[in-house]
Amino acid sequence: METKTLSVTPPDLKEAAEILHNGGLVAFPTETVYGLGADACSNRAVARIFQAKGRPSFNPLIAHVADIRMARAFAHFDDIALRLAAAFWPGPLTLVLPLRENSGMSPLASAGLNTIGLRVPEHRAAQMLLEEFGGPIAAPSANRSGQISPTTAAHVLAGLTGRIEAVLDDGPCPVGLESTIIGFEGGATLLRAGGLPMEVIESCLGKPLRFISKTDPVTAPGQLASHYAPNARVRLNATTKNEGEMLLGFGSVEGADLNLSPSHDMVEAAANLFGYLHQLDAMGAKTIAVSTIPDTGLGRAINDRLRRAAAPRS
Ligand code: TXA
Ligand code: MG
Repeated sequence: METKTLSVTPPDLKEAAEILHNGGLVAFPTETVYGLGADACSNRAVARIFQAKGRPSFNPLIAHVADIRMARAFAHFDDIALRLAAAFWPGPLTLVLPLRENSGMSPLASAGLNTIGLRVPEHRAAQMLLEEFGGPIAAPSANRSGQISPTTAAHVLAGLTGRIEAVLDDGPCPVGLESTIIGFEGGATLLRAGGLPMEVIESCLGKPLRFISKTDPVTAPGQLASHYAPNARVRLNATTKNEGEMLLGFGSVEGADLNLSPSHDMVEAAANLFGYLHQLDAMGAKTIAVSTIPDTGLGRAINDRLRRAAAPRS
């Protein structure tokens, strides 16, 4: 695939939005760092983010939205969250909020959690792209996994050329540091220091922020051994379906209740993963037996998540 460099002109913005509508990936500048954007409501598009980044696990992503109104279609805001949004959006602040049911958000974007990270970026290119696209754009920093966050289009291309459809180039990012992340479980909590100083947030709230502590249920969701787990028990590397089990298949396996991808397509398998675990739960599975998934490319992230789902529950 050839990665196009687009500029902030009406025809190029239109093309960028079209790529997103077709499930493609567009890196775009925000005031913090360049993000790697995909349609946040499309499992397949979000799966491609993880593939392009070479991420070995499915971390929850930030969904970028045009304004508070769009944000409220996807998450529940309490008074404190509303106050922060009113004070600091658009800007380098991400709010982690309870996800609305049936909001249309891809479960892969929130990594199967019942919360979603939302942010209204201030950068003109990000705002114009969001307006042209008309929906939420999921975007982690536009770097290969384990490398540093990009603050120019050249940084993005150095890591991702040939792996994404386009980069929208609008010069260097003014803040150059990722957004500050605030969660609300147990009170307003600093989840990640970032481009908006915590003192500014505290003076808006009129009280100190909490810090994450070891006793919090979800600190860094990607790091916990058993973080997203279905109600059913999970058995890995199944070659047969035992009595009372439901089989989540992969490839040409027979007798599967659901199949992540009959054609061995890893993007399809990643896109289906969380939704299928939910579905098998809803179908009343006591144990979900899962076929072996190749441990390469996106398969590493799929297996990481499945191992967590199969880990002993605390
Ligand atoms: O400035 C930024 O935030 C940039 C630009 C592109 O917006 N994005 C960014 O994304 O830094 P990323 O994926 O590199 O970092 C997102 C962080 C992760 O550490 C993730 O754990 C946290 O946000 N996060 C997202 N959703 C969450 C959730 N529902 N609960 C807890 N943490 C969440
Ligand atoms: Mg990052």
